[in-house]
Amino acid sequence: MRETATSPRTQDREQNAERLLRASARHSYDPLTEIDWDAPLDPAHLALPPHRVSLYGTPLWHSLDPHRQARLSVDQFASTTAAGIWFELVLMEGLVRHVYESDLTTRHAQYALTEVADECRHSTMFARYISATGYPSARPSKRAQRLGQLHFLANDTAMTFAGAIFVEEFTDAMQREMIRDESLQPLARSVARIHVIEEARHIGYAKPELARRWAAMSAPRRALFRRALAVLAQQAVAELIHPRVYARAGLDPVAAQRAAHLNPHWRDTRVEWARKAVAYFTELGIIDRSVERMWRRAALIAPR
Ligand SMILES: [Fe+2]
Ligand SMILES: [Fe+2]
Repeated sequence: MRETATSPRTQDREQNAERLLRASARHSYDPLTEIDWDAPLDPAHLALPPHRVSLYGTPLWHSLDPHRQARLSVDQFASTTAAGIWFELVLMEGLVRHVYESDLTTRHAQYALTEVADECRHSTMFARYISATGYPSARPSKRAQRLGQLHFLANDTAMTFAGAIFVEEFTDAMQREMIRDESLQPLARSVARIHVIEEARHIGYAKPELARRWAAMSAPRRALFRRALAVLAQQAVAELIHPRVYARAGLDPVAAQRAAHLNPHWRDTRVEWARKAVAYFTELGIIDRSVERMWRRAALIAPR
């Protein structure tokens, strides 16, 4: 049976979208005018709390003077925002496709377009941040580009929403810490503040939509979906820190990547930032015993 806006199955979906549209009307920001992009940056400011920098506590970290440690944190955040742009573009494509398959008189479809508008502003904001800090590129890695192409081909709306929940919860945890830490670079905190406010709505849109689609999935499709999401999450986190971040700090990128990979502080950070998404996927059964090891190997679930 074709779903309409008034069928009982979609009433709760419409109510949720209505609430999100009202919240969007009240709290939406234009980062181009809200943020002072011309304010000079203090090279002593870190963009992330020090213990959230991938090399924190390692001999490589201690080999850097405080200004280079600060620069490393700014480059890590700039690289993370570049990965954010990549992910938002993939998400926007998925949302536009979702609208294309929906009826735009529904609040549900209208909210999807509102979210696309939010992400357009975010990606522009992230690109402005990258330029302001002097970080050299907003392009994703070749691996990420291939993964994006795969997502376009797979045309899987449930995966779009699951990926959105993972990335949005992960960056939400990171950016909330940035907002709380008043010692950090004001520009990075302004970017984080706008993003956190608007992303809370996106998570509220994606979660029930994923739950609905997951409930309707066959067992073989679920098995495939579990594995595909574990791979996507692992790749999305691998994309956060481009090796050039380490090269720009004067470090050997291969040695630095290895040090970060083994760094217990960085592993704990990933687990902590992934916690809410992991809890939600576990509650739905998208993370179960068949894939838990994949998540643990990616340092997104704590070791036993
Ligand atoms: Fe965003
Ligand atoms: Fe979002």
